[in-house]
Amino acid sequence: MKFFHPLMHNNFEKNDLLLASNFLKKNNILTQSKNVKLFEKKWSEWLGVKYSIFVNSGSSANFLSILAFSMLYKNKGEIIVPSLTWISDIVAVIKNGYKPIFVDINLSNLSMNTDQVISKINKNTRAVFITHAQGFNGLNQKLLNFLKKKKIKLIEDVCESHGAKYKGRKLGTFGEISNFSFYYAHHMSTIEGGMICTNNKKIYEICRILRSHGMAREMSDKKEEKRIIKKNKLLSPRFIFLYPGFNMRNNEISAVIGLNQLRRLNKNNIKRSKNLSFFLKNLNSDVYFTDFDLKGNSNYAFPLILKKKSFILRNRLEYLMKAKKIEFRRGNAGGGNQLRQPYIKNYLNKINLKKFRNVEHVHHFGYYIGNYPNLSKDKIIKICNMLNSLQLK
Ligand SMILES: Cc1ncc(COP(=O)(O)O)c(C=O)c1O
Repeated sequence: MKFFHPLMHNNFEKNDLLLASNFLKKNNILTQSKNVKLFEKKWSEWLGVKYSIFVNSGSSANFLSILAFSMLYKNKGEIIVPSLTWISDIVAVIKNGYKPIFVDINLSNLSMNTDQVISKINKNTRAVFITHAQGFNGLNQKLLNFLKKKKIKLIEDVCESHGAKYKGRKLGTFGEISNFSFYYAHHMSTIEGGMICTNNKKIYEICRILRSHGMAREMSDKKEEKRIIKKNKLLSPRFIFLYPGFNMRNNEISAVIGLNQLRRLNKNNIKRSKNLSFFLKNLNSDVYFTDFDLKGNSNYAFPLILKKKSFILRNRLEYLMKAKKIEFRRGNAGGGNQLRQPYIKNYLNKINLKKFRNVEHVHHFGYYIGNYPNLSKDKIIKICNMLNSLQLK
């Protein structure tokens, strides 16, 4: 179907494709090589971290991060997670042997409720794996101070919030490890792709190895590699599988596209933030939730949340958006409340959904629609007028 307002428009510009096709014509090394390295370097500079590891998706970034965390700290236990996030955050926790402890979200930033996080921290807590959902900052001083005091690690999923900031500092630089996704729908895209970022050299080394079948030859510390080769005399030096890894590498074409997209990321983020404010100004705040905490926000998809808990109104809104060809997704980030998904059932004790009021609200009455850089003010007004025409009674 051709949408009047699609979720994403023009995330690949002509020059991305031109660069990629020129690269294809000229080069014969297409698997991970110097452009991947350069993209990692430029991304680290842009974000403000020491190390970045380019992988084939944000989900892989989630998985490898928690695997590396478990290998470094050898500390199975609980990891606190939001109920509104992507499935891969939760699966990364479960499949690496940790117990996910869920908390509710705030409607103002769609991120974890700090008081609930604090109330669930105990001697078994190993980390808090926050998701900065839909471009909102999820951090605050109370949380950061508490984690520091209790020596609990923070891991950040920034897959939906490239360029968002807390106190002027980019998200993804606060945690021990952070993750980004470059899937088509996000702030920038490498077709598929993800990034693991850290200032911890050990995490960096482990992730490099894990990304490439667990092979020792991937380590950047060549002295250490020699030592391992010596220790494993009966193994072929090029095939020492040091850790239990998969192939989660990305490739040169994606890196070439990523490098080009990174050049316009800041400019596009500014445009999207302006769009977000303009949407909020023009939407009927009696009908839709508009009271978001916009400080440091870097939006890529507009969160549209009905205030009233009404299934009749929700059905009318969906009918209206379909009729007006406004593409939408229900449940905001990740399809809504993870606690309601079939995959999680075997991993949970009894859960009282009444304690997850806000995520339940966005699960049933929250949506996102497109917010792309070249969206005009006229079009935003048209979209808001359409949405404001929702019949209330
Ligand atoms: C918060 C969050 N984390 C992780 C991911 C996974 O990223 P990918 O689709 O690149 O695997 C997504 C997905 O889009 C996401 O929204």
